[in-house]
Amino acid sequence: MANLFYFPVPITIDFYYLRPLYYILAMSVQTGAAKADTNNNAGKIVMGGIRPTGFLHLGNYFGAIRNYIKLQNEFECYFMIADLHSLTTHPDTKELKSNVQRVLAEHLASGLDPDKAAIYCQSHIKETNELYLILNMLAYKGELEKTVTFKEKVRLQPDNANAGLLTYPVLQTADILLHRASYVPVGKDQEQHLEMARTFANRFNYRYGDIFPEPGAFNFNQKLVKVPSLDGTGKMSKSENQMATLYLSDDDDSIRKKVKKAKTDSGAQEAGAGKSEFIENLFLLMSLVSKDEVIQKYEQDFNNGTIRYGDMKEQLGNDMVSFIAPIRQKTIDILENKKYLQEVMEKGAEKARKSAAATMELVRESMGLNYF
Ligand code: TRP
Repeated sequence: MANLFYFPVPITIDFYYLRPLYYILAMSVQTGAAKADTNNNAGKIVMGGIRPTGFLHLGNYFGAIRNYIKLQNEFECYFMIADLHSLTTHPDTKELKSNVQRVLAEHLASGLDPDKAAIYCQSHIKETNELYLILNMLAYKGELEKTVTFKEKVRLQPDNANAGLLTYPVLQTADILLHRASYVPVGKDQEQHLEMARTFANRFNYRYGDIFPEPGAFNFNQKLVKVPSLDGTGKMSKSENQMATLYLSDDDDSIRKKVKKAKTDSGAQEAGAGKSEFIENLFLLMSLVSKDEVIQKYEQDFNNGTIRYGDMKEQLGNDMVSFIAPIRQKTIDILENKKYLQEVMEKGAEKARKSAAATMELVRESMGLNYF
């Protein structure tokens, strides 16, 4: 170092020494989850992803898909099926094809429009791999090991604690940054991954040049619907507790049976009593699919102490059938039309590739990876 003062050599600064400074700068601009500022949405990009590892259920519909459908009318949207991510926990690919096709069909049947949003498959966008690799150099072992989802998955699959699992949040960051997205419509369980995406984006920006917006969770009106499971233990889930979860693929009989089995308490209470959690859940489910006058009738019955939960569940079962059956039937129709599915996937991939290629140009340029 002392040589610098005696010899007129060009001073080159090794970025490595500045790392602590980058951290401080990066942290000082971290603003937490982005709130949808509807006055300032011009040109903002939305990116969402779902792993094809199970059947979609009512929680996916009201938590994510319904938001996608609104978002596609207001933003440039990229919705992705995260087939590569699924390999971190599901290395057996026997059912991958049918799972990917079904998830795609279920999204289309729910109202996602391939003319509005790019709907595509992660593995079709090769640029993802390049950005993932570059971002891996900006992600530190310690912070990856501390990720809650990593620790949990290692606990669940101790014989397969693979590097893909460790770098899962890096791949997710690549998915998001590839489109320079600002909004990511995901639920609470993805909060930590998004925080890491912000960290990696900021690190890149401070080291190589400011090209990525900070991605944040997007919730309409901050109201996130958590669809309760029918047995009153938490929320509906892709794989656990299938009798307490309503899937978009359930037939009418199963829907009615499951709703009939939903937990209630001992029956009508005296007028004016508060609702137990089971009963709150039934009303919440009703609020998602039943007509206003139906909800009002049962609210009144509850308040009068004349409610009969058997009747209420029969009504809810019927309303669930009316809601789910058309989506299920549409999904079946779409799945029969493989040519249409393929067209949708190719069209989505084409749109996504265009946006990805433009970002990678910027990435290579800002990193100085263009040598001539
Ligand atoms: N990790 C997400 C999940 O399990 C899926 C996902 C992959 C994702 N890539 C994404 C979500 C990019 C949002 C953005 O639900």
